[in-house]
Amino acid sequence: MRDVAIIGAGSTKYGELWTSPLRDLFAEATADCLVDAGVDRKQIQSAWIGCMSSGLFNGQEHLASILTDYAGLSGIAATRVESACASGGAAFRAAYLEVASGASDFVIAGGVEKMNDGADATFCLATAADQEYEVYHGVTFPGLYAMIANAHMHNHGTTYDMMAHVAVKNHRHGALNPKAQFPREITLDTVRNAVRVAEPLGLFDCSPVSDGAAAVLLAPVAVARDLGKPMVTIKGSGHATDAIALHSRPDPSRIPSVGMAARKAFAQAGVTTGDIDFCEVHDCFTIAELCCLEELGFYEAGQAGPATLAGETALGGRFPVNPSGGLKSKGHPVGATGVGQIVEVYDQLSGRAGDRQVPNARLGLAQNMGGSGGSCLVHILEVS
Ligand code: COA
Repeated sequence: MRDVAIIGAGSTKYGELWTSPLRDLFAEATADCLVDAGVDRKQIQSAWIGCMSSGLFNGQEHLASILTDYAGLSGIAATRVESACASGGAAFRAAYLEVASGASDFVIAGGVEKMNDGADATFCLATAADQEYEVYHGVTFPGLYAMIANAHMHNHGTTYDMMAHVAVKNHRHGALNPKAQFPREITLDTVRNAVRVAEPLGLFDCSPVSDGAAAVLLAPVAVARDLGKPMVTIKGSGHATDAIALHSRPDPSRIPSVGMAARKAFAQAGVTTGDIDFCEVHDCFTIAELCCLEELGFYEAGQAGPATLAGETALGGRFPVNPSGGLKSKGHPVGATGVGQIVEVYDQLSGRAGDRQVPNARLGLAQNMGGSGGSCLVHILEVS
C-alpha cells in the first residue's frame, strides 16, 4: 500500500439551499477542491461519491454519472457509495484505498445530499433503520436516539444537562464557521426550554435537515510533495458494520460499530487516543457525541458527559471536539457529512481553520456513522 495525502479540499455552505440543485452542490464543492489543490480536472482519474438517498429526496438515481458530467469530469470512473449517514466516510475510504493500491494517482472523494427538496425528510431518513422491526412500528431517528439517550442516562448516569451542553458548545464552535447552517450561539436555557421532539431530546438536541456537498482530492505522498502541499496524510482507516436494529444489540446504550472501526484505525495508524489532538465526531443528536467519544476510547462509559460539563471538549479545552460546529450547528446533509468532517480535519491540520483553529494540531480523527450505528468509519489524519 502507498502512503496517501489529501492535496485539496472544498465545500459548499450547508443549509436550506433552495436555489441550488443537487448537481450544482456537487459541482461547487468539486470546483472549490480542485482550485484549492491547483490540479487540472483533466488529471482526475476517478471519483467516489457518498449520497444516502437521492432517489427518494430528489427522484435522481444514476448519480455518479450525472454529477461528474455536470462537474466537468465526464469520462472518469465514478461510483456512488451508500451507507446511510456514513456514505461520505465510506466514499472517502474507497478513494483512499484506490490511491493506496496504486490503481490511480488523482481520486476525488465527494459527498452530497439535498434533503430540502419537497420529500418528507423524516420518512426518507427512516429508510436507514430496520423497516420491518423498527419503522413499521412508527420509530423515527429522533425516536431511536431518544431510546439510546434514556438507556445511557439509566446505565451510565448521564444527565440531560450534559447533553444540552453538547448543543451549546457545538453552536459556539459553529458560530465561528462561515459555512455552518446555524452559525449562532445558543444558551443552555434555549436548549432546556425548546419543544421536545422525542423525550428527552428537544429541538436543539437534533442535527437539522440540510443541503450541502463536500470534496477532497487524494494523491500519493510523492505527488503531494512535488506539488509543495502541506503534508496531511491518512494514517489509519477503520470501517465496521453492525446490526442496524437497536433491539438486536446487547446494550442499547452502546454503539459497538464505533469501537470496532476505531480499533482498526488506531491499529493501522500505530497511535493511541492520547496522541489525538482533536476530533470531529458524528453528533447527529447530542447523546450521539457522548456515546461516540466513549466508544472511540477517549472516555470511559459515562465520563464524556462530565468532561463536556467541565469544558474539556470545547475549543480552548484539553481535547476539542467538533471544532467545525459538528452536525448539530454546521448541519447534516447526510451523504456529505463524512467528507465534510475530513475537510474540517484537513483545514485544522493545515493551520487554516481561522477563528476556530485548534493550536498546534498534528493528529486529528474523524468519525462518521450510519443510522443508529449500523455502520461506522473512523479516519486518522496527520500533518508532518
Ligand atoms: N437545530 C437548531 N435549529 C433548528 C433545527 C435544529 N436541528 N431544526 C430547525 N431549526 C430551526 C429552524 O431554523 C426554524 O427556525 P426559524 O423559525 O427561526 O426559521 C425552527 O427551528 C423550526 O424549523 P422547522 O424546519 O420547522 O423544524 P422542523 O420541526 O421541521 O424540524 C427537527 C426540526 C428537529 C424535527 C428536524 O430538524 C429533524 O428531523 N432533525 C433530525 C434529522 C435526522 O434525523 N438526521 C439523521 C440523523 S441519524
